[in-house]
Amino acid sequence: MTNLSAEFDRWIRHDFVALNDELEALYWQQDDKANVVGIGETIKQQLTAQGNAHIRDLLAEGNTDEGFENAFDLLGNVGLFMAACRRHEITEPSREQVSPLREASALAMHIGASIGVTPRFATAHLTTHNRAINGVYKRFTNLTAERLFIDYNTRGILAYKRAAESLLKIHALGISHPMAPVLLEEVKRALLDVIASNQTLYSKLDTSAFFYQVRPYYKPYRVGKEIYRGANAGDFAGINVIDLLLGLCQANDVNYGQMLVDKFLYMMPEDQATLRECMRLPNLFDALLAARDAHQSSWFQETASLFIQVCKLHGDTAIQHHNQLVHKYISQPAHTMVATHLDKVTASGPPLEVLLAQLAVLRDKRAAAKRDDIFTRYADLQTLRELVGRGKAAEA
Ligand code: HEM
Repeated sequence: MTNLSAEFDRWIRHDFVALNDELEALYWQQDDKANVVGIGETIKQQLTAQGNAHIRDLLAEGNTDEGFENAFDLLGNVGLFMAACRRHEITEPSREQVSPLREASALAMHIGASIGVTPRFATAHLTTHNRAINGVYKRFTNLTAERLFIDYNTRGILAYKRAAESLLKIHALGISHPMAPVLLEEVKRALLDVIASNQTLYSKLDTSAFFYQVRPYYKPYRVGKEIYRGANAGDFAGINVIDLLLGLCQANDVNYGQMLVDKFLYMMPEDQATLRECMRLPNLFDALLAARDAHQSSWFQETASLFIQVCKLHGDTAIQHHNQLVHKYISQPAHTMVATHLDKVTASGPPLEVLLAQLAVLRDKRAAAKRDDIFTRYADLQTLRELVGRGKAAEA
């Protein structure tokens, strides 16, 4: 890390957080907590001037060839600054054609393009690749709600990644391998961790604090002329590795494929590579159905039962995300929000109902729900259950 990027990092970890905290306190006092217009103008000017001064020097310093990690970290810091400017409406993509943060845009584009990621801050910057110093990792604010949100997003992501890694190992061994049940047990444990972590987040996170003081930092913003959607906890490969390897979602499905295409550059390069590989692999569901003639054998009985349990748990995590987290922290508070702010609720940009419908499709595919309008594994799961049932009956 160069001296200039170390100074910027210090600013992001201290003064930047203090300025955001001051602004959050002012917004929170209002009857309409979502309003930021005309509030704390001096603080906003300080934030812009200080951030821009650091970035101007870094831009002049140019490519310092300090390696991927440092470049990614610096991109994250520029991104946090740009996202905060968006949150405080110092920039506003619908008001502008090009980001007024010209130097920040130039630096973000230079780094993003050179390391193969989107030129904005991504989820990994705040979660899996967020270095703590003396116990404190980078955040926008010092608010409890933000810390809880990041803590439990990180836990969820790490657990999904554990599940994905175990599933990937089965591919090399084959579905009838005696280690397949061992690995499926690991997947079960990891998915149960996701459920437990989501449950804690659901019970601890304050709805208004999240909605008014945390979520706004995840809005889309412009880098140069392009608008980049907000970061979300799904921007890592693991969740899709699970979808694809279980066979609950298909890479050649137009909606699911679109989502994969859209999220590639929001992931770390190693995640991009993993996901690409997975898109080329056959899935375990098809492998089990293809082995149906062996349904009375003990390996099929054990592995297929565990596979069904894993599918159920994966579906449960998706149901929990949609019916609990998205419902409590996005849909419900959006109903009470002043109508003028409603168009700014989501991180990805589309209107709330459109986003909710997209997330419901994902939930139902993961849960293999009975739906006539989209392809799900509902019928195949029934078949698999019957095969296991028949095998058990034959054993008895
Ligand atoms: C995407 C809300 C926590 C995993 C999304 C989206 C919303 C959302 C609204 C759609 C993206 C957008 O806004 O444009 C929430 C809320 C949370 C929460 C309100 C908690 C307060 C989590 C956690 C995880 C997670 C803890 C676990 C890793 C995902 C995934 C996606 C996503 C994987 C991408 C879409 C998908 O593949 O399902 N979330 N989320 N979220 N979130 Fe969450």
